[in-house]
Amino acid sequence: MKIALVGYGKMGHMIETAALKCGHEIVCTVDLFAEDAGCITGDSGEMVRAIKKSGAEGIIEFSHPASVMQNITALIPARIPLVVGTTGWKDNLPAITEQVALNKTALLHAANFSVGVNLFYRIVAEAARLVSEFDAYDAGLFEAHHNQKADSPSGTALDIARRVMENMPNKKRLVTNSADHKPEPDELHLGSVRVGSVPGTHTVWFDSAADTIELTHTARNREGFALGAVRALEWLATPDQEGKDRVGVFTMDDVFKEL
Ligand SMILES: NC(=O)c1ccc[n+]([C@@H]2O[C@H](COP(=O)([O-])OP(=O)(O)OC[C@H]3O[C@@H](n4cnc5c(N)ncnc54)[C@H](O)[C@@H]3O)[C@@H](O)[C@H]2O)c1
Repeated sequence: MKIALVGYGKMGHMIETAALKCGHEIVCTVDLFAEDAGCITGDSGEMVRAIKKSGAEGIIEFSHPASVMQNITALIPARIPLVVGTTGWKDNLPAITEQVALNKTALLHAANFSVGVNLFYRIVAEAARLVSEFDAYDAGLFEAHHNQKADSPSGTALDIARRVMENMPNKKRLVTNSADHKPEPDELHLGSVRVGSVPGTHTVWFDSAADTIELTHTARNREGFALGAVRALEWLATPDQEGKDRVGVFTMDDVFKEL
């Protein structure tokens, strides 16, 4: 497949390596600053023209939370399957879903593309379901990332929190960052730390007076994210089981359902 990359930073370069290994071609790289990008621009029109001219059959966007909305909004009308890895724009999901439907195109987003994390989501959901049958257990979350990460808490941590809350009916409200009060029983506390080069660590505690059940996912490097993003684009650009082009907004859950 001919692939365009928007954002040619650390992830953009790793995705290029993963895509080439999978037999794809990188036909266009767009970045605001990166000197080795084929198209250096912050102008949305110029970005879209460069991508269309390249003949790209799919786009992967890993840029910056401050740029992602502008990029997505400009790319949707091009009607090329679009995978978005940049986090920090979830509040705009309803508006983007509407734009995708109007343009009859396909967008897949995930706060975390690694297969391991997507397995971890399922393990946490099942653990929360089991634990919720016992009143003795409280739950809490913790995440750590490198000190270059711009958003907090991580999108992955928010996805984990959602799964815990869906399966523990007594946890109704998420409290992030510092706790300035004693947590109420219906609050789920999520703490974030930014330090050094940590690629990404997420921990869920189920805690009782007698013991702790601790589940941790530790990313060792970022290769899993890059390969997952390429696999997600392959899935998005492949017709569905009825042979129709995929239209709508998808997540890694949709990819996993068909594996
Ligand atoms: N979903 C996942 O699995 C996953 C995994 C890792 C990182 N991320 C996210 O991906 C994003 C990028 O991460 P990174 O480590 O590659 O960061 P990075 O800083 O190394 O690279 C980001 C690049 O995007 C460029 N950029 C900024 N605005 C742009 C614009 N308008 N158009 C084009 N390029 C633009 C920057 O110049 C930079 O080169 C971050 O938001 C990060 O949190 C997601």
